[in-house]
Amino acid sequence: MDALLHSGAFALTTILLAALIASLFIFSSHFQRQLDAESTVPGCRRFGLVGKSNMSDQYSPEHNGENFTSSAACKIKALFIYPIKSCKPVEIEHDDVILTGLRYDRQFCFAQLKTEEAEKDEGDLSVSTKWVHNWKFITQRNVPRLSQVDVKVWVPDPSSPSYSPEAEWVKSKGCVVCSFAFTPEWSWNLDGLKTAFSLLKTKIAQRDIRAEPRLTFKLPIAPDEKRSQNYNREVMKIWKCSPTAINITSEIPTDTLAKLKYFLGVSNPLALFMADPENHRQVFRNAPTVEEAGYQPGVGFADAYPLSIMGVASVQKVSKTIKNLPTPHLDALRFRANIYLTNIPPFAEDDWKIIRSGNLDYHVSCRTTRCDLPNVDPATGIKDRAEPYKTLKQTRGNIDKGAGAHPVLGMQMVPLLKDAKGSEEIRVGAEMKVVKTGEHYYIKLFQD
Ligand SMILES: *[C@@H]1O[C@H](CO)[C@@H](O)[C@H](O)[C@H]1NC(C)=O
Ligand SMILES: *[C@@H]1O[C@H](CO)[C@@H](O)[C@H](O)[C@H]1NC(C)=O
Ligand SMILES: *[C@@H]1O[C@H](CO)[C@@H](O)[C@H](O)[C@H]1NC(C)=O
Repeated sequence: MDALLHSGAFALTTILLAALIASLFIFSSHFQRQLDAESTVPGCRRFGLVGKSNMSDQYSPEHNGENFTSSAACKIKALFIYPIKSCKPVEIEHDDVILTGLRYDRQFCFAQLKTEEAEKDEGDLSVSTKWVHNWKFITQRNVPRLSQVDVKVWVPDPSSPSYSPEAEWVKSKGCVVCSFAFTPEWSWNLDGLKTAFSLLKTKIAQRDIRAEPRLTFKLPIAPDEKRSQNYNREVMKIWKCSPTAINITSEIPTDTLAKLKYFLGVSNPLALFMADPENHRQVFRNAPTVEEAGYQPGVGFADAYPLSIMGVASVQKVSKTIKNLPTPHLDALRFRANIYLTNIPPFAEDDWKIIRSGNLDYHVSCRTTRCDLPNVDPATGIKDRAEPYKTLKQTRGNIDKGAGAHPVLGMQMVPLLKDAKGSEEIRVGAEMKVVKTGEHYYIKLFQD
């Protein structure tokens, strides 16, 4: 009798489960539409390249630069912006170059509160230690999981049916939509059931067994006055600078911020800053002077200079010299350049001084010195302990006298605009002309 009851219950459960799965499949397109609707921004359109990346053939021998003939013009192969420093890039086909580089590049940056020894004045040899709390920027170097935070840019679109000048994100000149995968913990209660449902829903909508639900938050590109009242200007530390930046942490709902910290593996307090449009970090060292450029060059949250550039052939060449690369090829995107070029021999960019595309001249200020950040695989967020940094040090160290043993790859640039408020377009497929070549000597930020 007992056995009969059991098998009856078992059959019933099976039928119920099958019915549930069948209905979920029927609802699959509904879930898909729901997800699509949740990920659109009223009155705006997605900015950037939708479709195949212009770097999808980056490993092709066509781009190794070895059959280079000077008759083939150097071309812009792909363009990338990184609206949130160290998070995923947004690929674009064209955009405006302004004083700080590409318009939406490195406008936001995460920071953590760190307790450190206060810096001593020069010549202060006292043993007593003073401790201070500083907001310090974070990057993939110390938080590799940042590479898995997805970023999309949405800009106002008057031709959109949902457009209205009063729409929330139209008023802020668009928004940056960030998302990260987050699966809540399972438990045997109603919340657990909700979790299971949302998991199943995501997997079915995306028709991918590995798909995880994502948490999303939005950041204003140019917050209107009302929105700005919620923010404060604060001092944060980025490399050696302590610029003031706008604290926009309040744009992230508190529980989302807590989950983001968990996702990133950051235990210190976490904050999000926006570059202050009134107050650029000024760029000196190898940058052109005010006399040369006509204005003081500046950046948002870029490490040092407004734009970075690199030949695809250079990355292919480096890739060939690495023996224990954890991936089949070295993805050029590990180096997070803004502009990737093709139709030049490997390392041709090493001695460029002035280049031109369209109506704009670029001051090629210096070579890019490399840390171990490119050891992070952009696809997985996993940081390799050695490569490519180890090989880069052997093959690309001692190239630049100023940089010494620090490896260099790619170049840093400052756009030479008509004036500080000027802008010029840059476009994929456009020619890049070398106007002037010469010697480079890297001026370090930290003397060692
Ligand atoms: C480069 O040139 C070599 C020798 O001429 C040829 O064998 C090879 O196929 C060429 N590669 C490409 C990508 O054109
Ligand atoms: C930034 O804003 C958040 C939320 O409004 C606040 O908790 C925090 O103390 C502020 N300051 C910094 C430096 O994060
Ligand atoms: C770049 O990618 C876009 C979208 O896939 C494509 O339309 C365009 O032709 C590509 N441009 C070049 C120069 O390859």
